[in-house]
Amino acid sequence: MVNHSSPILFFDSGIGGLTVLRKARVLMPERRFVYIVDNKGFPYGLWKEDKLRLHLLTLFGRILKKYKPLLCVIACNTASTLVLGDLRTAFPDYSFVGTVPAIKMAAKHTRSGLISVLATPGTVRRAYTQDLITSFASQYFVQLVGSERLAGYAEDYLRGQTVDLNVIKAELLPCFVEQNGKYTDIIVLACTHYPFLINIFRKLALWPVDWLDPAEAIAQRACSLLPPCRNKIEPGEDIACFTVAQMDFTVRRLFHSFGFKCAGLV
Ligand code: DGL
Repeated sequence: MVNHSSPILFFDSGIGGLTVLRKARVLMPERRFVYIVDNKGFPYGLWKEDKLRLHLLTLFGRILKKYKPLLCVIACNTASTLVLGDLRTAFPDYSFVGTVPAIKMAAKHTRSGLISVLATPGTVRRAYTQDLITSFASQYFVQLVGSERLAGYAEDYLRGQTVDLNVIKAELLPCFVEQNGKYTDIIVLACTHYPFLINIFRKLALWPVDWLDPAEAIAQRACSLLPPCRNKIEPGEDIACFTVAQMDFTVRRLFHSFGFKCAGLV
C-alpha cells in the first residue's frame, strides 16, 4: 500500500541535484523530500564504470531500506546514464526518474544543426549518451565536451569560494564550434551542477547560445509519476543526508537555504 507521506528521494554526488529539486518543490509544494549527497563518492565523473555501478547499487540497497521513498529522482547524469536500468531491475518495488542529457530536446530546437553537450567525462563516455545521439540527433553535429573540473567549481562557487574564470573558460570553449559559417546554437547542460554556474557561462560565452537545462522537464516527469493523493499528507521536515560527515558551515547553510535540515549520515 502506498504511503503518501513517504518522501520523494533526490540523489546526487553533490549539490547539483538541488537544481532539479528547486523545480520539483514548485510543482509539489505539499511533498516531503529527502536529499542524499554521496559526498564520499564525489566527483563521479572520473570513476570507472564497473566500480561506480557496484558502488551505486550497494548504496541504494541501504538508502531504500532506510527511507522507503515514494519515488527516487536520480538527479545526476553521470549516475543515471550508467545505472538507471540496473536500479530498476535490482529494486522493482521502487520508481526511478533519471536525469540524462537533453539531446532529444536540443535536436528539436537547433537551427544551425550544431549542438554541444557539456557534461562530466563519465557522461560523455557512456553508451547511453551515444545511443541518445544515434536515436535523436544523428543528422546533426553533436560536440561532446567532458569537463573534469566544472562540477567541483560549482560546489566551490556555491560555498562562496573564489573560482578561476580562466579555468572555467578553458573548459567551456570547446562547446563553441564553427563549421562552414554555422555556429553552435544550443549547449546542453548535462550535469546537474552546471546550472549553478550559468551566469558565469553566459559571461564567458563566445556568442549567444541557448543553455538547455532539463530540470523543469525532470520535475514534471517526477510529478506525473506520483499517485494521486486524496488525503492530506502528514507534514514533515525535509532532510539532507551525507555519505561522509564533511558538513561544514557553508554546506549546512546552503542546504538550509533550500529548506533542508542536515540530518547526518545516510
Ligand atoms: N551532478 C552530477 C551529474 O549530473 C555530476 C557530478 C560529479 O562529477 O560527481 O552528472
